[in-house]
Amino acid sequence: MNRKAKIIGTGSYLPERVLTNSDLEQMVETSDDWIVSRTGMKERRLAGPQEYASTMGAAASRVAIADAELTPDQIDFIIVATSTPDYTFPSTACLIQDQIGAKSAGAVDIQAACTGYLYALSMAKAWVETGAYRNILVVAPEKLSSITNYKDRTTCILFGDGAAACIVSLQGKGLVIETIRLGADGEQAELLMVPGGGCRQPATADSVANSQHYIKMAGNEVFKHAVRRMESASKECLEAAQVNEKEIAWVIPHQANIRIIDAMAKRFEHLPPERVFKTVHKYGNTSASSVGIALDELLRAEMTKSGEKILLTAFGAGLTWGAAVLHHE
Ligand code: UT7
Repeated sequence: MNRKAKIIGTGSYLPERVLTNSDLEQMVETSDDWIVSRTGMKERRLAGPQEYASTMGAAASRVAIADAELTPDQIDFIIVATSTPDYTFPSTACLIQDQIGAKSAGAVDIQAACTGYLYALSMAKAWVETGAYRNILVVAPEKLSSITNYKDRTTCILFGDGAAACIVSLQGKGLVIETIRLGADGEQAELLMVPGGGCRQPATADSVANSQHYIKMAGNEVFKHAVRRMESASKECLEAAQVNEKEIAWVIPHQANIRIIDAMAKRFEHLPPERVFKTVHKYGNTSASSVGIALDELLRAEMTKSGEKILLTAFGAGLTWGAAVLHHE
């Protein structure tokens, strides 16, 4: 038997509060023109004070479970990919398990920064295909506003909050996960990191005063890696899936910057801009959740139909990267 895992339900959650470029103009020395021309972003969402990775992730999960026509007790395992867990421990996956009432599910958090959705999807695919679990809930929730320094104009314009979820299973109809390719390069770890808050630099009055608990990024360097890595991961994944780029109906890249997305798309021979799905203008970079939110929107807008192939690709801190080829049944 050679059955492949599928995504049989998706969901997403975006908090209500909108942070516009003109709001950011009041906070740091920047302009709407600069932000739009350098990033393509116009606005992003911010979680409320009572909203966390777990609550946003639970909201997205409920939608995904209903979309898959399942009930929470039918979820066997929960994988949460996030860089902004509610706590160091217990895992956000355990909190979500409780909030959605998935009493019989195992639960674990993984960390692959912005590539987290693809890493989690790959694990879910493997576990489902080996028969270890039947229905796996993948959740990627991010409250990036909690680690963003709103005094640093080079990063605070980029990030937003949100959550995505999907159900991976062998049963039911959906998007067959044909192939996933993942990669990492820990030598470049320092290009994008939150230096404080781990065991190397636990929180102290000094570390907090020195803003060590916020995202630090060498933007230019990260930019170049992002373009190259998403291109190579995508091409390797297409080759492994024996799919020609002409056959791809939609590409959903990580929504880090419109210029990264455009530069990556130009490296393909047959990838016109209208086949690249974008949410970056309205949600900014929501890290692990970005690809999942975009996939959910594409499906909900009924912009993809049976028979089409979809390419997902992501890149993030680690460095980490990956790509997946999906086939809409
Ligand atoms: O999700 C993980 C992956 N993350 C990413 O992939 C992000 C990758 N990096 C980027 O998207 C871009 O590098 C940024 C959007 C962060 C920056 O764009 P850039 O075109 O690389 O700008 P830059 O860093 O080269 O800065 C150009 C100028 C600098 O001024 P000088 O040194 O030329 O005088 C910056 O100080 O723009 C200045 N600048 C700003 N000006 C107005 C930087 N941030 C801002 C700002 N508003 N917000």
